[in-house]
Amino acid sequence: MNNVHRPVLLEEVISFVKDDYSVVFDGTFGGGGHSSEILEKFKRIKVIAVDIDESALFRGKEKAKEYNDRLLLIKENFKNIDKVLKERGVEKVDFILADLGVSSNLLEDKERGFSFMKDGPLDMRMDRDLKIDARFVINNYSVSELAEIFKTLGEEPRALKIARQINEERKKAPIVTTKGLSDIICKVVRKGRGLHPATLVFQALRIYVNRELDSLKEFLNRSVDLLSKGGRVAIISFHSLEDRIVKNFFREEEKKGLLRILTKKPVTPKYEEVRTNRRARSAKLRVAEKIV
Ligand SMILES: C[S@@+](CC[C@H](N)C(=O)[O-])C[C@H]1O[C@@H](n2cnc3c(N)ncnc32)[C@H](O)[C@@H]1O
Repeated sequence: MNNVHRPVLLEEVISFVKDDYSVVFDGTFGGGGHSSEILEKFKRIKVIAVDIDESALFRGKEKAKEYNDRLLLIKENFKNIDKVLKERGVEKVDFILADLGVSSNLLEDKERGFSFMKDGPLDMRMDRDLKIDARFVINNYSVSELAEIFKTLGEEPRALKIARQINEERKKAPIVTTKGLSDIICKVVRKGRGLHPATLVFQALRIYVNRELDSLKEFLNRSVDLLSKGGRVAIISFHSLEDRIVKNFFREEEKKGLLRILTKKPVTPKYEEVRTNRRARSAKLRVAEKIV
């Protein structure tokens, strides 16, 4: 598979990195786009990078060789940033980055079951060590539990209707593929000109299976303590649920006098980037600086 992932808001992220920084924590290594650019531009910086997807780390190994001991790659959830740094005897870092969500490489890989555009097993685990996948959720959760997930994590207005249809269909045969699920959703939601009918349900399932919002909250809570004075935390989010968490967290920490928000409004990609990279469309970057 080609490495199709293109880093979003790359220049903008780099513009927040200071020359005198020495250690960066990249919580979402992915295709290594942001990490590589930081390593290229700032020769004194070392990057400690984690990802929960083995395949991202596997591809990153070559990169790590290129940068020798300046790039350390670890399989870990970013919410465990404190553990990762402690185990390596690192007390503080100068820049913390998270570019949230799924990489294009995962979306493109039909075997990982993230996309309704490609038929594959209904999986959606970024971390293959997770016990519960999307197939288990869809076939075992009650109608009300499914509806709740679709409503809260997908903001899907037809959540209950879709959950009921899933329940009818799974009585006949288990729902095991992405296309199988997408077809069921299309029975109750008409295809229009806008989003594909399965978009919001797939988003909700992915967020649920990977516990994305909980990981983000834990990560943010632990990050502030680990930043050096003058250090910065930069988060790129792709939907309103994530962005709200980041915005509110930064505001709370600013009130406590710990962080200063550097992006009063989130930074969004330029027209040219959106035109050439669809994934950039909904990206929002928020950055804050540690002041004590
Ligand atoms: C959007 S991609 C990052 C792309 C990267 N910035 C680049 O330039 O190539 C997000 C990556 O974060 C990983 N990821 C998502 N949630 C994670 C978490 N809680 N902990 C660690 N990695 C995570 C995904 O597996 C994916 O590889």
